[in-house]
Amino acid sequence: MEKEIKYEALAELSKEDKYKTIIPQIEALIEGESDLTANLANVSSVLKYTFNSISWVGFYITDKTEKGVLRLGPFQGKPACTRLFFGKGVCGTAAERKESVIVEDVNAFPGHVFCDSGSKSEIVVPVLKEGNVTAVLDVDSHEYSAFDETDRKYLEEIITKILFIFG
Ligand code: SME
Repeated sequence: MEKEIKYEALAELSKEDKYKTIIPQIEALIEGESDLTANLANVSSVLKYTFNSISWVGFYITDKTEKGVLRLGPFQGKPACTRLFFGKGVCGTAAERKESVIVEDVNAFPGHVFCDSGSKSEIVVPVLKEGNVTAVLDVDSHEYSAFDETDRKYLEEIITKILFIFG
């Protein structure tokens, strides 16, 4: 593939430099492709293969017909819960608040939805389109406190850069 990413070469970089390297590559990958599923699948894959600390990464898409439901979309990792609800769990909380949520220890988060019993920490970034939550990006780790403000900053930047693919 012309736009192949050399993941091995990223291993020695800091978290920030990894994000700075993959963001233009994500932009190049989605350039010229209008299919939402294809693009979200590739974004999930780039994140999963860039960060060893990520156990699961993917998108939950707001259901257009069933109010308050987030439906499992493209992801990388083990099979996951197929539907989540606004206001419940980490994804539902980020969707309801319309802001990113970082959870250092998912066991301490009231209502956390366990799709993978190995999950220890999580970050969820909402995708806001004209003020409405159209999806959330959910990233999990088997390590405690895997995500911080650097992840928030760059994952939000990734969402901003790919917002147009949500139509
Ligand atoms: N833990 C999430 C559910 C989704 S899975 O982690 C993939 C939550 O509490 O919303």
